[in-house]
Amino acid sequence: MPVGKNVQSMFSGISGKYDFANHFLSGGVDWYWRAKLVNAVKRHGPTAVADLACGSGDVSLALRKNLSTDIPIQGLDFCEPMLDVARGKLGKRNLPGELSFAFGDCMDLPLEDKSVDAVTIAFGLRNFEDRHKGLTEMRRVLKRDRGALFVLEFTQPDPWMKPIYAPYLKYVLPHLARLTTGDKAAYDYLAGSIEEFPDKESLSQEMRGAGFTDVKAFGLTGSIVALHVAKG
Ligand SMILES: C[S@@+](CC[C@H](N)C(=O)[O-])C[C@H]1O[C@@H](n2cnc3c(N)ncnc32)[C@H](O)[C@@H]1O
Repeated sequence: MPVGKNVQSMFSGISGKYDFANHFLSGGVDWYWRAKLVNAVKRHGPTAVADLACGSGDVSLALRKNLSTDIPIQGLDFCEPMLDVARGKLGKRNLPGELSFAFGDCMDLPLEDKSVDAVTIAFGLRNFEDRHKGLTEMRRVLKRDRGALFVLEFTQPDPWMKPIYAPYLKYVLPHLARLTTGDKAAYDYLAGSIEEFPDKESLSQEMRGAGFTDVKAFGLTGSIVALHVAKG
C-alpha cells in the first residue's frame, strides 16, 4: 500500500483526471457528501478554516462559496499537481473572500498552534502514513475553546449496503477507474484502502486517542462514507 512519497506520486499521476473520475465513479453522490461536510462547518460558525489534503479543491471552493467572506480559508496539500488543479479552478471562479492553496504536509502542518477554529479533511485521512500523528497535528492547530474537526471519509458500510457495495468496490470500480484514468493501480489502491479503513466507532476511538472530545459520527449513503465531527 503506498505511503508518503508514493501517495504524492500516485495523486500527481491522476491529478488531471481526478475530478472526472470522482464524480463518475461515485455517480455524482460525492457532491452530496461534500455538501454535508460544508453544512456542518457552516453550522459551527468558524472564524478561520484549514482544509487539509484539499487536493483539487472541491471542499475549499464549496466552503468559500458558503461561508461569510470575512472567514479566511486555507487549502493545504502535499501534492503540487493537485494544488495546480485547485488553483486553476479558483482562477476561473469569481469568488469573494480569502482562499489560498498552498503546500502543506499533514504530518507537519505549516500552521501555528491554536490558529484555526475549523479543520476539514475529505478523503485524505485514509492516505496518511501515520494517522495518529496526523490527528495530533490537526488538534495542535485548533483553538482549544471552540475548535472543531470535520472528517469526511469512507467507512465500513451498513449491513444492508454491504452486498451491493462490496462487489462494486472489488470488481466494478477498478475497471471503470482504468477506463476513466488509465491508472488501474491507483484505484486498486483506493478499493484496498477503503476495505482496510476503520469503521465509525474505531475511527472515533482513534480521534479520542489523539485528544478530541465529543466525537460524533454520521453515516451517509448506507455508511459508504461517514462524517466525523469532534471538538479539539
Ligand atoms: C482523495 S484526495 C482528496 C482531495 C479532496 N479533499 C477531495 O475531497 O476531493 C486525497 C488528497 O490527500 C492528499 N494527501 C495525502 N496525504 C497527505 C499528507 N500527508 N499531507 C498533505 N496531503 C496529503 C493527496 O495529495 C490528495 O490530494
